[in-house]
Amino acid sequence: MSKTRKVGFTETVLRDANQSLIATRLPYSKFEPILETMDKAGYYSAEVWGGATFDVCLRYLQEDPWERLRKIRAKMPNTKLQMLLRGQNILGYKHYPDDVVRKFVEYSIKNGIDIIRIFDALNDARNLEVAIDETVKRGGHASGTICFTTSPVHTLEKNVQMVKDLKSMGVKSICIKDMAGIMGPKESYDLVSAIKDAVPELPLVIHTHCTTGLAFMTCLKGVEAGADVIDTAISPMSGGTAQPATETLAYALRSFGYEVDLNDKVLIEMADFFKGVRADFIKDGTLDPISMATDTQCLNYQIPGGMLSNLISQLKMMNAIDKLDQALAETPKVRADLGYPPLVTPTSQMVGSQAVQNVLAGERYKVVGKEIKAYCRGEYGRTPAPIDPEIQKKILGNTPVVEGRFADSLAPEFEKTKAELGATAKCDEDVLSYIAFPQVAMAFFKDREAGFPKKEEPKKAAAAAPAAPKASDLPPMPAWQGHVYYANVPASVSNGVTARPIQPFAASYQPPHLVMGARDNCPGTYTITIDGKPYAVSVAAADGPAPAAAAPVAAAPVAAAPAPAAPVAAPAAPAPAPAPAPAPAAPAAGETPVPSPMPGNVFKVDCKPGQAVKAGDVLVILEAMKMEIEVTAPVDGTVKSVSASVGTAVNTDDLLVTLG
Ligand code: CO
Repeated sequence: MSKTRKVGFTETVLRDANQSLIATRLPYSKFEPILETMDKAGYYSAEVWGGATFDVCLRYLQEDPWERLRKIRAKMPNTKLQMLLRGQNILGYKHYPDDVVRKFVEYSIKNGIDIIRIFDALNDARNLEVAIDETVKRGGHASGTICFTTSPVHTLEKNVQMVKDLKSMGVKSICIKDMAGIMGPKESYDLVSAIKDAVPELPLVIHTHCTTGLAFMTCLKGVEAGADVIDTAISPMSGGTAQPATETLAYALRSFGYEVDLNDKVLIEMADFFKGVRADFIKDGTLDPISMATDTQCLNYQIPGGMLSNLISQLKMMNAIDKLDQALAETPKVRADLGYPPLVTPTSQMVGSQAVQNVLAGERYKVVGKEIKAYCRGEYGRTPAPIDPEIQKKILGNTPVVEGRFADSLAPEFEKTKAELGATAKCDEDVLSYIAFPQVAMAFFKDREAGFPKKEEPKKAAAAAPAAPKASDLPPMPAWQGHVYYANVPASVSNGVTARPIQPFAASYQPPHLVMGARDNCPGTYTITIDGKPYAVSVAAADGPAPAAAAPVAAAPVAAAPAPAAPVAAPAAPAPAPAPAPAPAAPAAGETPVPSPMPGNVFKVDCKPGQAVKAGDVLVILEAMKMEIEVTAPVDGTVKSVSASVGTAVNTDDLLVTLG
């Protein structure tokens, strides 16, 4: 390999490093002063948009993400601007109809994006096709992406085949995306070599994270094998769960004779600037030094670090940490049953939660979350290997499997939504914001209409400004949108028996709402468990200056839960599947109580008193163990009363609904 080869750099400080280290909380006003300087650095591209930036702008920063993009574009005319797009899911986790995907791509490019990095969590190229096609049509650069994972079916040949498929779809480059930082230098060298042999004409990009400490080696060996571009972050915002440092890799690669077109003086200026940014975020608690550290634990278990933390946290919440070994043994089995999905968000949460459920229920796949059902139906796309047919049958019952591409079954949505929104949407971009994050966007529109309540710090404003949308009015942020969360809460509000900032959660960890609530001053009622007993706590908005501080907590034993807080063993019937009648808890004659199968929060109530229901109809959706669990009617009947209310915590056997 010629050492005079040029290596390009993609700067991630405004998107992935921002997302990984400080939960995407960097407002435009804070980085605006450095943009013109950044524009002179000589980057191959700057990743500035997509991922969680969109949601966080609307939800927390009172910023229109489209306007942010236009402003960056204006300040950086000489640098290619790049975004991250989740194929058919755009920026979220559900599949959108093709017209929405196309509009989103069209307006991303119109507002200033040059390169769209397009990926799919299952590496199902059919989920990339429409986004790639539209990018090409609009004159953009589509970067086809492989989510890196290891399994018996993820061979070099399979990866090479995917790259060839992407090439035939018209991509201008290929990216190997190692979102969990588990790709080592050997895997990097082998995979890059194989891809470069197959499609030498396509530039190849390496994206990884420093979480496990492998990233510098992974990038170096990847470049040795022929990679053309690496993703890095300016040093003060590098390392830990973010990307390796730009300056460090530039130095190392030059020393080997590679050509690096970065302007060192500009990098120094940028580093000075972002040192100040980092200091501010350390000071207000957003950036925990723990997330800058190296965590090798997940290399021992061969699962991403975020997923391991997730398993531990779930088991602690269920008072079942003694089952960790069983859950760790169950995890690879569940992954194999499900056809070896890459362990990335959201499949990592799904596999991990299912393993925990299998262990706790004492019967495999007795309790199955809504997401796993949708996955088994084929709504996420084609699995790398077939799902175990017996398990699929047990999970789905008679529910039909999706034939072909799921998005083909979705009706166009853009024009219909635009008409529905009417004057609320000021432009097509507003319509897209609304389609991507309906409740969040609507709260943003109202806020905008009110001229944006003035604010000093975004988080303070969210808590103090009366006209701001109340956090409790919004659905919980899909936490997987952020790479890193850690419990920045006092011991009294930690989510279980163990106090302390809980582990640094990297990569794909989805935090408990309690942790999110405390971080974001999200008022609400939560259950904490101390010595096996549940306590209801109310978290109110704090008025004090500490932005992330949890409000005073009033703890009292849960009065309405006569059932002792026994460690959760087998969730009581009915399981979420259309299930046999529940063990009746002394019901009145002719009444069928529908109790909660497990501890969780009531996410949605889908029935009203007086409503006629059929066995199998969804009555209530619980949010438990990071999954939506559907609680269904065990028998045909009429809803007599609804005890569940949205946002409240319930325990196993707590009454949700009574059928008459
Ligand atoms: Co990443």
